[in-house]
Amino acid sequence: MRLGTGSLALTALLLMLSCGGTPDSPPAPAADPSGLSSDELQNGIGPAKETITLGAVDAALATKGQTLFETKCMSCHKLGERFVGPDLAGVLSRRTPRYVMNMILNPEEMVKRHPEAKKLLAEFLAPMAQQNLTVDEARAVVEYIHSFKGPDASQAQK
Ligand code: HEC
Repeated sequence: MRLGTGSLALTALLLMLSCGGTPDSPPAPAADPSGLSSDELQNGIGPAKETITLGAVDAALATKGQTLFETKCMSCHKLGERFVGPDLAGVLSRRTPRYVMNMILNPEEMVKRHPEAKKLLAEFLAPMAQQNLTVDEARAVVEYIHSFKGPDASQAQK
């Protein structure tokens, strides 16, 4: 057994050595049939370019986002339930904050070019409407969705 582990480690070491020194292979060409870059596939296409890390909720930002959500999104979206558009309660576990912002800011191009957005359009049939939010407003909406903890929390906020 000891010998086995040892030779495994040796093989790993040899593999590492044999790779060392060779020039880095060129970046893989965008293999996705959509022609989008891996960044676009992950974060969507549009004006939200800065990486966002969600942490402790910024309450002021979330409140601003809630107002925007109630006026610009609730005609089609609910948190915790499918409506005209998809349920947005869990959206940040399946999409990056930037993806959500680009979907808000650039829905026309997203449903035309992004494979995930295209799938949703095919499923929901209605197109997501352009709401003319600024990048900062879209960021606030993301904070509100991030702050949303379930139907009880939403009741409590009303
Ligand atoms: C006119 C109805 C309508 C309005 C208003 C609307 N949406 Fe949508 N939204 C949709 C539909 C329908 C989809 C599914 C994709 C499609 O069909 O375009 C969608 C998709 C999305 C997605 C993608 C979800 C996913 O799982 O990838 C996000 C995020 C989103 N909307 C957020 C918002 C936010 C935030 C607002 C308010 C600023 C908003 N939407 C306003 C109808 C709407």
